[in-house]
Amino acid sequence: IVGNKNFKEGFLWGGATAATQYEGAYNQGGRGLATNDFLTGGTKNSPRKVSVILKDGTKTFLDREAAVPEGAVGYIAEETYYPSHKATDFYDHYKGDIALFAEMGFKCFRMSISWPRVFPKGGIDGEVPNKEGLEFYERVFNECKKYNIEPLVTLFHFENPAYLADNYDGWYSRETIDFYLRYCKEVFTRYKNLVKYWIPINEINVLRGYTRLGCRDTGAQARYQALHHLFVANALAIKLGHEINPENKIGAMLALSGIYPKDCDPKNIMGAVEYRRRALFFSDVMMRGYYPSYTRSMFEDLGVTISKQPGDDDIIRKYVSDFLAFSYYRTTVYHTGVVQETDTGGQLGDANPFLEKTPWGWPIDPTGLRYVLNELHERYQRPLFIVENGMGMDDVIEEDGSINDDYRIQYLEDHIKEMKKAVVTDGVDLLGYTTWGCIDLVSSGTGEMKKRYGFIYVDMDDEGNGTLRRIKKKSFEWYKKVTQSNGENL
Ligand code: BG6
Repeated sequence: IVGNKNFKEGFLWGGATAATQYEGAYNQGGRGLATNDFLTGGTKNSPRKVSVILKDGTKTFLDREAAVPEGAVGYIAEETYYPSHKATDFYDHYKGDIALFAEMGFKCFRMSISWPRVFPKGGIDGEVPNKEGLEFYERVFNECKKYNIEPLVTLFHFENPAYLADNYDGWYSRETIDFYLRYCKEVFTRYKNLVKYWIPINEINVLRGYTRLGCRDTGAQARYQALHHLFVANALAIKLGHEINPENKIGAMLALSGIYPKDCDPKNIMGAVEYRRRALFFSDVMMRGYYPSYTRSMFEDLGVTISKQPGDDDIIRKYVSDFLAFSYYRTTVYHTGVVQETDTGGQLGDANPFLEKTPWGWPIDPTGLRYVLNELHERYQRPLFIVENGMGMDDVIEEDGSINDDYRIQYLEDHIKEMKKAVVTDGVDLLGYTTWGCIDLVSSGTGEMKKRYGFIYVDMDDEGNGTLRRIKKKSFEWYKKVTQSNGENL
């Protein structure tokens, strides 16, 4: 392998979004409900809640990660604001938004298809796909094509069809694999000539509970059983995707913000390795094709026993991911008896005294990005794709209407410089870089609007009020120079 002098020709510069945070129109165009549609707004100090109606008819709000009692189903409470319902309305703004992405020089646009927009009940036996939903995405992909923007499409980004969650216990049920594959077949076939890059599952290592997995039970046993079903579904989706179009590139996707040992105490060094495996376990399965050797001890610690069907291991072994996509925002610190102050998006750890934090408490660590790129390159020796990176900030509109987000430019510039070192100095094979929330969208963690990531501001507040007008921030012109110079002009 020979290192590159710069990012390779055709490097996929762009931005990333997800339907549940961006698309809106939750009850239009024949879309079915998703579990996330029951998730309220919140703030960093008052977490989002899920509204459910219990078997006896009592209406209540549960903690996002609480177990959902048998017989309870998600419901929409009156006078409650649910951010996914309108989000920032990509549904009605897609043309203008994609034109803005093109103006910024995007080569790639990451978005997700809302599964219940294609199959309102998830794809159960006899269900026909929703024509209007399919047509909507076709229009979106054609719009991308017009500007030579490569779509990178996530098929499952925190959005379970509510029907499957409430009637089948979501991914805990083996049947969900078949429903999901019916959905995959429909979209792989329909968009065969429009989409080449796919991500079957977003951040598989942070999925748990009702909203993200569609499961009532949030315990480790149920979670890993559901995740086994996802591994099988992912492998079969890869098989299907390659059969339908051999040109398809289908990637695994994890939250892989990094973990450092606190110091040179061997206990912390080894502990950090074991802790990191809790995340890398998922890419080990999907990139290498088998449950790694440490699975037995990890499952013993967690008290988990997976039930597999004959043939599952062969399926997982045969259909591995073409590339590894990941999100990177921050790093955290491991030491035994961990205090749990910061998290990686999946794992909690100590604060790092060497790093500054964003107002939402996320440590800023550009060097960590190079560290993680090397870690993954050395572990898998396969193409990588950074599909989320960025800084959530409460942007201010000045009196003259400008938005001077120099902090965002700084954050991204510092991360891109480190990414460049990973490519040029270390020889990492990197397909592209899509910043998270290239246009403002609802925060997944807190449900806030004011935790903004975009180069494009959207006029909307935390209660969903606003004109939805799009305004270019200072970072818009800056990112344009980056994409147009293929990362030379930072
Ligand atoms: C990732 C998710 O975990 O982080 C996104 O894939 C999410 O959906 C992003 O939005 C940033 O997190 P947050 O909580 O700031 O929206």
